[in-house]
Amino acid sequence: MSLIIKIENVKKFYNQSRALNGVTLSMHEGEEYLIRGASGSGKSTLLYLLGGLDKPTEGNVVVNQKNLNELNDEQLAVYRNRYVGFVFQFHFLLSSMDCYNNLLLPARLAGLSKNEMAEVVQRVLSLAKSLEVTHCLEKYPYELSGGEQQRINIIRALSLKPKLLLCDEPTGNLDSENSQKVILLLRTLAKEFHATLVVVTHDPQIAQSFHNQFLMKDGMLVTA
Ligand SMILES: Nc1ncnc2c1ncn2[C@@H]1O[C@H](COP(=O)(O)OP(=O)(O)O)[C@@H](O)[C@H]1O
Ligand SMILES: [Mg+2]
Repeated sequence: MSLIIKIENVKKFYNQSRALNGVTLSMHEGEEYLIRGASGSGKSTLLYLLGGLDKPTEGNVVVNQKNLNELNDEQLAVYRNRYVGFVFQFHFLLSSMDCYNNLLLPARLAGLSKNEMAEVVQRVLSLAKSLEVTHCLEKYPYELSGGEQQRINIIRALSLKPKLLLCDEPTGNLDSENSQKVILLLRTLAKEFHATLVVVTHDPQIAQSFHNQFLMKDGMLVTA
């Protein structure tokens, strides 16, 4: 398995707070990883750096042999759009458009050819069918249940076949039955899309089933 992520002694400081205080880790292509730790331990900060949403104060984040520090804003935007899929606790669906148009937003921003766009439409419709949210496509996000919103969110995250699927407390907003379903879904889909899956959670029940685990404490990785 080839290395997809390499982080070396990465630090991220916000004024007084040392959100990350020297993190070193490697992740391999196509594997699934779980990051757990108490609230405030730096889990989200780490995920944002991996997703190119923020930059480290010190150290390098290397994804697919590219040092994200060396990318300019435009290149980072392309990286986020084409390479990464994000699933957050709260969905970031736009309330001004129906779910179908929300699903196609990343593809529209990507400037795809007509053929590529047709492929994305097919992928999105087929995922909607298998995730049983076809009936939601013409609805607005606020008309959906929490579980439906999260499934739409997951489809959007996968719409451009990301190599890296980053999930920050993806079940934080769901009951335990729906949480198990969403995690299973993320794992199944990540496999199907050959994506590397990184899930952040502080739910011990979800954590149990992951083979590769990182435990964070006070901005550092400790032995899981
Ligand atoms: N934008 C920010 N500004 C200032 N402090 C922040 C910011 N983001 C995170 N922090 C601080 O960094 C630490 C780690 O936060 P975070 O990565 O969100 O932890 P977690 O996701 O594990 O709960 C916390 O002490 C938090 O208050
Ligand atoms: Mg967090």
